[in-house]
Amino acid sequence: MSYQASKEEHPIEIVNIASLEKAVKERMEAGAFGYIRGGAEDEWTMTENTHSFNKKQIVPRVLRGIDSADLSTKLWDIELKTPIIQAPSAAQGLAHENGEVDTAKGVAEVGSIFSISTYANTTIEDAAAAAPDAPQFFQLYMSKDDKFNEFILEKAVKAGAKAIILTVDSTLGGYREEDIINKFQFPLPMPNLAAYSAQTESGDGEGKGIAEIYAAAKQAIVPEDIQKIKELTSLPVFVKGIQSSEDAEVAIAAGADGIWVSNHGGRQLDGAPASFDLLPSIAEVVNKRVPIVFDSGIRRGEHVFKALASGADLVAIGRPVIYGLNLGGAEGVKSVFDHLNKELSITMQLAGTKTIEEVKNTKLVSF
Ligand code: FNR
Ligand code: LAC
Repeated sequence: MSYQASKEEHPIEIVNIASLEKAVKERMEAGAFGYIRGGAEDEWTMTENTHSFNKKQIVPRVLRGIDSADLSTKLWDIELKTPIIQAPSAAQGLAHENGEVDTAKGVAEVGSIFSISTYANTTIEDAAAAAPDAPQFFQLYMSKDDKFNEFILEKAVKAGAKAIILTVDSTLGGYREEDIINKFQFPLPMPNLAAYSAQTESGDGEGKGIAEIYAAAKQAIVPEDIQKIKELTSLPVFVKGIQSSEDAEVAIAAGADGIWVSNHGGRQLDGAPASFDLLPSIAEVVNKRVPIVFDSGIRRGEHVFKALASGADLVAIGRPVIYGLNLGGAEGVKSVFDHLNKELSITMQLAGTKTIEEVKNTKLVSF
């Protein structure tokens, strides 16, 4: 029987982001759910990603005459209605029959940035056409085959991508036990790979596990690859998966236009620190030379606040977006952003901060 994905298209009632996971588990095929929810090995890092936000606190401030919060911000010349953007995630056809098309629509509706994965179930062109006036980034998993890299980057540029995200933390897959137990293999093709494989028989991902797909990608990524991408596209390049200040320095020296602090939502190296714990030291070294996106473990508006106060310019959410997509399609994605924006607004007002700049200048405390 062919894979059955959600067809829902409606806003969703959200009490909190954490509750979405249970709702999705009850309705999604076990292998697909395990692939989306799962982390590597004991999932210590995945769990710690969210818990780590409790290590620092926000001191409430009063008598500041604040009656509302302004969540607007900018990335380069891109105006945003929220500092929360969507993290690129593969195979969104697992969550919804419209996949990345609906995610792109929902993210556009909230005035944020959508990023499409190399391993999407939607072509770069179709995602771009779904929200033609909204900013989109293309996330590249480099191939060993330079002709593929040139092919797919050309597609991204032609489709109007505003930046390239080079993901560097997945030169092979983390040991994801739930996928092993479920013998998970992608049930749907990845059309951006298919478009190339039509020329070279390199395969379209269908019937493969993520470990196999990663094995076909490039393992030996080097700083020079950043410049290569910039020359091929004339677009800014975010380097995603930076977890040390040393690597941030290397990436900037090699031409990175942005640093994406992430441990891939705990799906790669289990036993790594929580992404939030590493953010301050990375932000210190970056020293505002290039913008910082932070992801991994964001589930509350206060988590967004704390990441912005610790050096991030934007934060990205992964699994919450996929859950919203499954439960409500484009409107479900919008509901997830609306909920987190609501929590962030409450946090900002009670912390006595009206703007995102004031949040960024807030000092967190820990006792
Ligand atoms: C991802 N992530 C990811 N990252 C990337 O650069 N390219 C990709 O194709 C994917 N695919 C992917 C699939 C799924 C199912 C998940 C859950 C994640 C990682 C993603 O961009 C982001 O770093 C994390 O998801 C952030 O953590 P949270 O918000 O999911 O806790
Ligand atoms: C994952 C890859 C596709 O985390 O990034 O599954």
